Amino acid sequence: MAAQSGKSWVLAVTAQTPTNIAVIKYWGKRDEELILPINDSISVTLDPDHLCTTTSVAVSPAFTHDRMWLNGKEVSLSGGRYQNCLRELRSRASDVEDEQKGVKITKKDWEKLHVHIVSYNNFPTAAGLASSAAGLACLVFSLAKLMNVKDDHSRLSAIARQGSGSACRSLYGGFVKWIMGKEENGSDSIAVQLADEKHWDDLVIIIAVVSSRQKETSSTSGMRETVETSMLIEHRAKEVVPKRIVKMEEAIENRDFPAFARLTCADSNQFHAVCLDTSPPIFYMNDTSHRIISCVEKWNRFEGTPQVAYTFDAGPNAVLISHNRKAAALLLQRLLFYFPPQADADLNSYVIGDKTILQDAGIQNVKDIEALTPPPEIKDNTQTQKYTGDVSYFICTRPGRGPVVLTDESRSLINPETGLPK
Ligand code: DP6
Repeated sequence: MAAQSGKSWVLAVTAQTPTNIAVIKYWGKRDEELILPINDSISVTLDPDHLCTTTSVAVSPAFTHDRMWLNGKEVSLSGGRYQNCLRELRSRASDVEDEQKGVKITKKDWEKLHVHIVSYNNFPTAAGLASSAAGLACLVFSLAKLMNVKDDHSRLSAIARQGSGSACRSLYGGFVKWIMGKEENGSDSIAVQLADEKHWDDLVIIIAVVSSRQKETSSTSGMRETVETSMLIEHRAKEVVPKRIVKMEEAIENRDFPAFARLTCADSNQFHAVCLDTSPPIFYMNDTSHRIISCVEKWNRFEGTPQVAYTFDAGPNAVLISHNRKAAALLLQRLLFYFPPQADADLNSYVIGDKTILQDAGIQNVKDIEALTPPPEIKDNTQTQKYTGDVSYFICTRPGRGPVVLTDESRSLINPETGLPK
């Protein structure tokens, strides 16, 4: 490796990677070490403007070991999953030359060089919004760029998969399928793009971040317990999901919202049913989640055709996918009617992301929320109870693009002189 001028150098790359929400869920592994799933899954990538991970990675001969900082705190890289990703990336690294800095790194040098990884989520990690998916995908994508790994996104997805299963789907924008694969070594368990984010760009996504005091079972241990104890999971993986995958691909291709919504809701409900069929049972949704489901179900039934789809991952947060802006504005009115902000809350921090949906809903301030009337599908006055404080906040977003390299130096999270977090 050429530290030719004799002085040390730092070479860095910064990238941004989106998170994703599964509409046909991954739940259950056939290989824990390689992270190979028992069924295919399909996801929608969320707009990175509202939910993403930014990661800067750097290499320098001065670094003594691999280190990582997440949201300002140093975290250990000793875990097997990180180690597997780093090993896979190093083995695929190529020569890198930076003429300006007078740096030349050969393929062989990567075995000895150490890296620093600095990662930041633009949303609260604690909110339980698939931060590991965006995080691991960003780590793999940015290191692949730094190390000049020539593999395409699908090959990179197989590396990200070994960091966290759902991360493999964050290597693409739009609509993504994770093919479970058949090979024992996992080489064919990869993500592919079904359609890009422009294919179906009138969809609007509203996430209700549901207040929860309880620490949830992690996806990793939850799905292990399901595979070990549930009888329903086998039926789901073998009989139900394969058919749903075919139908979901058709619904996406044809932008058939009613089919898309029915499949999405049914698959979320079945995923939570297999959690309940686990011993001991796993409860990810809470009363607020159930109230959001009833609100959507009642409205969809009243309209005669689905306006909104709901889906819930391993936690109580609701991800609501609306057919278009009009449906999203009507949805937001309903959500704010049932789940108004606390008296002292600021509307600006209660509804975040794409605030134009709030304007479409005709809501400018907390007074407008107080003035909302019960939705027309409610005939019984007992159903107009409000649940102030049960939702922490809402995020308005849409389907979004895949990972990108950020070339603007000012976006880097690493100090170019020291190689440490800025
Ligand atoms: C419910 O990808 O977090 O979000 O592979 O063990 O890291 P590991 O699990 P993870 O599981 C995600 C489960 C899910 C459904 C999904 O995203 O498909």
